[in-house]
Amino acid sequence: MRASVFLDHNATTPVDPAVIAAMTPYWAECAANPSSVHRAGVAARRAIDSAREQVAALVGVQPAQIIFTSGGSEANNLFLRGAAAVRHPGRVFVSAAEHACVLRPARTLGRAGWQLAEVGLDGDGRIDADHLREQAVDAGAGIASFIAAHNETGVLQDVPALAEVARAAGAVVHTDAVQQVGKLPLDFSALNVDAMTLSAHKLYGPKGIGALVVGKRLDLRAQIEGGGHEQGLRAGTENVPAIVGFGVACELAAARLAEEGVRQAALRDLLVGWLQAEGAMVFGAGAERLPNTVFFAFPGIDGATLLLALDSACSSSDHAPSPTLLAMGVSPDLARGAVRVSIGRGTSSAQLQQFRAALATCFAGLRGLTSIAV
Ligand SMILES: Cc1ncc(COP(=O)(O)O)c(C=O)c1O
Repeated sequence: MRASVFLDHNATTPVDPAVIAAMTPYWAECAANPSSVHRAGVAARRAIDSAREQVAALVGVQPAQIIFTSGGSEANNLFLRGAAAVRHPGRVFVSAAEHACVLRPARTLGRAGWQLAEVGLDGDGRIDADHLREQAVDAGAGIASFIAAHNETGVLQDVPALAEVARAAGAVVHTDAVQQVGKLPLDFSALNVDAMTLSAHKLYGPKGIGALVVGKRLDLRAQIEGGGHEQGLRAGTENVPAIVGFGVACELAAARLAEEGVRQAALRDLLVGWLQAEGAMVFGAGAERLPNTVFFAFPGIDGATLLLALDSACSSSDHAPSPTLLAMGVSPDLARGAVRVSIGRGTSSAQLQQFRAALATCFAGLRGLTSIAV
């Protein structure tokens, strides 16, 4: 029996062995609290400083602009709740493509005196800038958050253009770049935003660590209060091993970005060609997308059933259709059948061939089954 192929790198990535090696001493040998003033504490503090520099270098900012959090979800919540806490209620702009950890806090603000403005998508999954412009009229002031690269479709948004519209409407602007970091170049200042979210486990780092990158003039209130950690924006004794791992993962990503981007894009295009030849609908195919992501459905075939038959670790919605696909105008039936393949550093063309062969074997049978069931 052949090994199952892991094609779910947008959900998470395996931790790089070099990252594990760098983290290991900080569990026990160098386990001091970085706030302690003894020598071991100072060494732990230095390890954090150096990781902060590595993360900052990957996105082109100063180390002081990196606020470590427990991951992408916390960083997104810190921006939305933290920015709202120091502003008079105005409009909250988010798109229909946002991750739940942006949408939910935005909707919470919508029940607490803020006006929620949810911006629609075009048929390829791009945030509709004209709809944003309409929603921005007479906004007064506000908060905006737009995803940089979509976790399901892989569609890349024109963040600088969206940010310009939102900022003209008086909003402070954030982007959730969790899926872009490590896959494509990411330069904070070119994005024209006030804050940006990163997460380590999407780029071969450990789970449970991420960062909010903050612009120098951004006013925010901490959402976890306590000691003055992370410049007073996020209290809690720092997770030193995870922070060290995040730093090394960023350094490795910077070194491999160009080569891996080209390699993975070629594999993605190969896969798209096969799928389309078999009659699949590839979502967002007309938009610029991440080099590693393909989101597709075969009309008449349920995604969860297809996954079971393929025995590959890709991803499908097992219950409700993707809200992003519905916002793109995809029918609920087709959306329910959607499967996401997200390739990674460990994905070889032989593995993709294995996936294709498995697809070919189960495809005709499934189609037959589905048509009998209908
Ligand atoms: C676009 C996006 N934002 C945020 C998150 C949350 O990141 P974390 O798992 O680090 O909390 C994810 C992870 O699935 C994501 O894909």
